[in-house]
Amino acid sequence: MFTLTGKKAIITGAAQGLGKAMATALHDAGAEVVILDISDRAQDTAAEIGKEGASVHAVKGNLMDRENLEEAFQEAVNKLEGRVDILINSAGLIERKSAMDFSLESWDRIFEVNVSAVFQLSRLAARIMIEQGSGKIINMGSILSFLGGFNAAAYSTSKGAIAQLTKSLSNEWAGHGIQVNAIAPGYMLTTMNDDIKNDEVRSPQINARIPAGRWGTPEDVTGTAVFLSSAASDYITGVVIPVDGGVLAR
Ligand SMILES: NC(=O)c1ccc[n+]([C@@H]2O[C@H](COP(=O)([O-])OP(=O)(O)OC[C@H]3O[C@@H](n4cnc5c(N)ncnc54)[C@H](O)[C@@H]3O)[C@@H](O)[C@H]2O)c1
Repeated sequence: MFTLTGKKAIITGAAQGLGKAMATALHDAGAEVVILDISDRAQDTAAEIGKEGASVHAVKGNLMDRENLEEAFQEAVNKLEGRVDILINSAGLIERKSAMDFSLESWDRIFEVNVSAVFQLSRLAARIMIEQGSGKIINMGSILSFLGGFNAAAYSTSKGAIAQLTKSLSNEWAGHGIQVNAIAPGYMLTTMNDDIKNDEVRSPQINARIPAGRWGTPEDVTGTAVFLSSAASDYITGVVIPVDGGVLAR
């Protein structure tokens, strides 16, 4: 029920962090994977994950550039010989600054990658999935899809939008056999959080807010990613699943 043998997946932002862990887990479950990332590390990550089993490919693309996004998506589809069963939109940006100090250029950059690129990639994938009569789209929300956060207005607004986009696209495409869901991670140990993890004031404040008593690891999101990619979740669509060690329940 959880096997992904024969399935073909595109995962953005998978050169590192949560995306890399999800790419590894989908590969381990049997899927052929394309890592779509702006980073030069994508090639090494693909080689590392794809040593055995189904192929893992790397495609370099900048999701902030709309033309390049389309080209990179097409290159990924070509590598998968025209089929896309799973799209995971994991690439994301954060900038921590007070609202008063935040530039509108940064606001636009964060919205372009965190929201507009997710919308466009989802539509490009759904065109193929509608033809196939099946597909899984998984977006990366955040606990800041629900909470306002602190010094992260653009990011939390973008992740709130992801929760709504997930529901909107689910409503439109559920009848085509496509499930659109989101994962909402809490405080995870990736480079995105190096600054707050190393902040002597904020780090202990955050520790005290996590009922599980620890930060999440990239591997902590992988079970939910495989579940939402597999037939086990075929009747689940339009939901945002927190993977946060209990933060939102507190
Ligand atoms: N780390 C956390 O605590 C946390 C919590 C909640 C949600 N999330 C979300 O999960 C997702 C993954 O986060 P992460 O911690 O793995 O981040 P990360 O910074 O470790 O990795 C992000 C990846 O996205 C890629 N990327 C950035 N801009 C890009 C662009 N313009 N085009 C193509 N690729 C680009 C980067 O090269 C990198 O490989 C993000 O959407 C993030 O908002 C993370």
